[in-house]
Amino acid sequence: MTTPAVVCIGMAGSGKTTFMQRLNSHLHAVDSPPYILNLDPAVLNVPYAANIDIRDSVNYKEVMKQYNLGPNGAIITALNLFATKIDQVLGIVEQRAKSVSHVLIDTPGQIECFVWSASGAILLDALASAIPTVIAYIVDTPRTTSPATFMSNMLYACSILYKTKLPLIIVFNKTDVADAQFATEWMTDFESFQAALKALDEDENNPEGGSGYMNSLMNSMSLVLEEFYRHLDVVSVSAYTGAGMNDFLEAVDRKVEEFNTDY
Ligand code: GTP
Repeated sequence: MTTPAVVCIGMAGSGKTTFMQRLNSHLHAVDSPPYILNLDPAVLNVPYAANIDIRDSVNYKEVMKQYNLGPNGAIITALNLFATKIDQVLGIVEQRAKSVSHVLIDTPGQIECFVWSASGAILLDALASAIPTVIAYIVDTPRTTSPATFMSNMLYACSILYKTKLPLIIVFNKTDVADAQFATEWMTDFESFQAALKALDEDENNPEGGSGYMNSLMNSMSLVLEEFYRHLDVVSVSAYTGAGMNDFLEAVDRKVEEFNTDY
């Protein structure tokens, strides 16, 4: 089976849901309608028609009340309850994947609830064993222009790659607000990233300006990340305007080819 599943993961507010909405309408226009799963039990409204929605089988507010849980505990418990039906869900997804070009999956903004929970791992492993599964890590580009924030975000992406061991595409979103050229430059040219770090350190008014220790740590980490960057696909998109959607779909095709390689 070659129909890929694209799992959208990203920090809260990075634009996962808007990206899913744009991808959905783009696929309707240029290819065929995707099959969509929403795995965010706490979302109030989704701007697309989900074919399978965790909210149809688990009531997030009831879970909070019944188990006396806070917001994150309730998301994890809702995912646990949903994971008990994974065989049923996979059966449907596998069947439907034969007649669609893509399966799209939206996840909770609280990344750790999904990526680091046992049920999140069960859901991802089961999905990846059934169809080629690619992670789209959505980045809020305008909020990542500082070298310190950029480094933190990339380390997070690296940890997701390490945890899931699935092919990863970094999607720089919101490029209608900030061009992602700075990011691609920092990812390919270590010296330009070092220059940005140095400028940050010298700017005394910048609260993100680090100490000598912090900047030397960031230098070392950026060297480590060079290896991470080498295996990545990076695309710039705007979920608002639709710019970059074809580039994203091409990156998905490339990653599907790599799917069976050893990560
Ligand atoms: P959570 O589910 O709460 O984690 O959020 P999310 O990652 O799904 O983000 P969402 O799609 O809700 O978008 C967050 C905010 O960013 C909203 O105000 C969107 O309108 C805005 N947004 C999303 N994509 C874009 C984009 O491409 N450009 C601009 N300018 N804003 C965007």
